[in-house]
Amino acid sequence: MSYDKYKTRWLQRYPAVSDLKKKAKKRIPSLAWEYLEAGTDDEHLINQNVAAFADIKFRPRFCKGVLEPDLRTTLFGREYSAPFGIAPIGLSGLVWPKAELYHAAAATRHNIPYSLSTVATETPETLAPHIGDNGWFQLYAPKDREVALDLLDRASTAGFNTLLFTIDVPVPSSRQRTARAGLTMPPKVTPGLIWDGATHLSWAMSTIKRGLPNLRTIAQYSQDNSIEKTSKFVGAQLGGTIDWEYIELVRDHWKGEVVVKGVMHPADAEKSLAIGVDGISVSNHGGRQFDGAYPSISALPEISEVVGGKVPVIFDGGVRTGLDVMRALSLGADFVLLGRAFMFGVAALGRYGSEHVIEVIKNEMIVNMHQLGVETVREVKEYRG
Ligand code: FNR
Repeated sequence: MSYDKYKTRWLQRYPAVSDLKKKAKKRIPSLAWEYLEAGTDDEHLINQNVAAFADIKFRPRFCKGVLEPDLRTTLFGREYSAPFGIAPIGLSGLVWPKAELYHAAAATRHNIPYSLSTVATETPETLAPHIGDNGWFQLYAPKDREVALDLLDRASTAGFNTLLFTIDVPVPSSRQRTARAGLTMPPKVTPGLIWDGATHLSWAMSTIKRGLPNLRTIAQYSQDNSIEKTSKFVGAQLGGTIDWEYIELVRDHWKGEVVVKGVMHPADAEKSLAIGVDGISVSNHGGRQFDGAYPSISALPEISEVVGGKVPVIFDGGVRTGLDVMRALSLGADFVLLGRAFMFGVAALGRYGSEHVIEVIKNEMIVNMHQLGVETVREVKEYRG
């Protein structure tokens, strides 16, 4: 069985990420949905992240004869089949059991990167046989630096080559929406929660098969691997610890490329360059941390100007279509990550959902590159209006 069996039917029924979003919402318990969709405070930013793309326009050129758009992109010396990849999403297994495994397999099959979160529900070791050369690892800075170095060694041994070091979680943000929905870590098993799970049958069956989600990557550093102790460990250990010296330590330890994830101010981009990181990620954490920030795409031009091509700029936040990927490229991104879009894919369609998202985004890019009159992703920039 493979995605190819479903491809034609799914392209007809779910031609866009917005269709997957609708289906996902119905197919998973509301608690998992609230977790995935929530922003912070009044949630202006998650909407603005998406809405801001509509104002980015191009000036297409025509009469170029037969074009053959080519999405291939080289980043850090590796060629990927497209200029986009899968962003790290913590607790993915709550949204859909084995989501990390499905993403990893899809990324390898289609040769795009997949980023595994520190707070993943699978481990780098479990993913190792599936991830090939396509694994990126995301680090939240533990207070105990020995734990950080051990996490890095484990990810590296499992074959992950690029590190996203997330800097934009100084403290946990206020997530009123998830609090209202009753999501606590560890989850409290209430009659409401049981009903919520039981009324979403295929989610419930898959969860029973895989076992209740735990933060398996870091569970081993907690007292007894239990979800209770691991959640306590996360609360006590992750966040509030990061400074430039910590980034230098990690840069020196990690054998592959280090990308600072969550840069929103040009001065932080300059500082990152000064300490010699390999890439800069412009991201506002999908609007989940600070509702007062700019939409990610609005912050991109200034930062890409400061970076000036010295290292690649990786962008995420609000990307839902292939055209959005092109818009980000046109404003200076070298590579783009999608977070929720891929989660909508697995939540809606299970095992092959991530492959469907790749297919949809690639198709949209190809059609729109024809419309724009370009054959390579590098040219997209030249046609911005
Ligand atoms: C995230 N994000 C995130 N980032 C990170 O560095 N480590 C993590 O564990 C997580 N976890 C996480 C969970 C959920 C549910 C969401 C929605 C997001 C942020 C993520 O990597 C990325 O920056 C955003 O998802 C990009 O925005 P879009 O594509 O979701 O709009």
